[in-house]
Amino acid sequence: MLVGVGIKSRHSSWGIDDSLRELAQLASTAGAEVVGSITQSLDAPSVTYLGKGKLEELREFQKLVEFDTIICDDELTPTQQRNLEHSFGNIVKVIDRTALILDVFARHAQTHEGRLQVELAQAEYLLPRLAGQWSHLERLGGGIGTRGPGESQIETDRRLINFRINRLKNELNKIRRHRAQHRLRRSRNGIPVVSLLGYTNAGKSSLLNSLSNAGVLSRDQLFSTLDPITRKVRLPNGKYALFTDTVGFIQKLPPALIAAFRATLEEVQDSTLLLHVIDISHSNAGEQVEVVEKIVSDLNMSDKPRLLCMNKADLLNPNVSRSFIENNGEFRAVLTSAVYGLGLKELLQAVEESIDSIGSIEVDRRVRA
Ligand code: GTP
Repeated sequence: MLVGVGIKSRHSSWGIDDSLRELAQLASTAGAEVVGSITQSLDAPSVTYLGKGKLEELREFQKLVEFDTIICDDELTPTQQRNLEHSFGNIVKVIDRTALILDVFARHAQTHEGRLQVELAQAEYLLPRLAGQWSHLERLGGGIGTRGPGESQIETDRRLINFRINRLKNELNKIRRHRAQHRLRRSRNGIPVVSLLGYTNAGKSSLLNSLSNAGVLSRDQLFSTLDPITRKVRLPNGKYALFTDTVGFIQKLPPALIAAFRATLEEVQDSTLLLHVIDISHSNAGEQVEVVEKIVSDLNMSDKPRLLCMNKADLLNPNVSRSFIENNGEFRAVLTSAVYGLGLKELLQAVEESIDSIGSIEVDRRVRA
């Protein structure tokens, strides 16, 4: 059962319905069967996430349909999660958007590094929520203060998880140092690096496949690629560039989750050019671009040279595409269809010209220095 709440004072360009549609896609990617959804607009966040009346409605619906899991479209506080579970007599599991994304990440991580990053994000998510996991034992304490028998167990668990978090961070640091050396060698070789980034499901892997016949996994699922994949692609002038496919972005992606992917995202920070892939056929294309640009800016990459790839052009209403491209502002845009191989030559030409102009700016800067 999907549940979404819009807080009236929080301005978001996403409507609740669009956001729930995306949540449903995430849920089915995680293997859940969605039986229904309920939304509510509230003045302020509630301690049970939903307001009283809606909660009652949902309880009635549960008796009828007997769903066993509620998925909320926001990150819940540990208290909200606990309260919501209690109001269903603890027979329904409550998970939030972050836990769902983490579940999808865990299913799709394939490399050692990808798994470590997901495990770190999961451990950091779990840490503040441990108290809720042991509340059944705390109740056995007969209400004597807050230190029930569960409390010492929570502290043991907390220590164990902190220990694990430190080990994971150390391991990831080693990988980052190794990657940094690799990047240094690569930059000495002078091969430009083009990072594909974009909203999840925009078509980044399909594009890399079409450009390089890379055999990168591409599925109509959110977050099918979690691990960075790099391929050498020949540009029209005969020179080569390295194209890197990275993790997709999504709205309401918690900062802690982005931080867990630092090692992967450093690849992007060091790249010559960002190729922002956009699913132009999507009804929320504009909102998705905003989400990606916000994350790019949070990662201090706003100054990076950018090229926009308006993908899935085959699914398009031509009038929509023209107005979207004409209104996209400062960056050069190329229209492509990764699956039908349309616009790929133009894309590579634009990549080459962008790299050349970056190169001449660099030379100019060095000459002036
Ligand atoms: P994440 O791994 O989630 O970040 O996704 P991605 O951006 O790598 O997308 P991916 O390449 O996996 O494509 C997602 C879906 O869109 C797949 O079903 C592709 O076949 C489809 N797709 C990609 N490009 C195009 C296109 O140009 N036209 C059409 N019609 N479908 C496309």
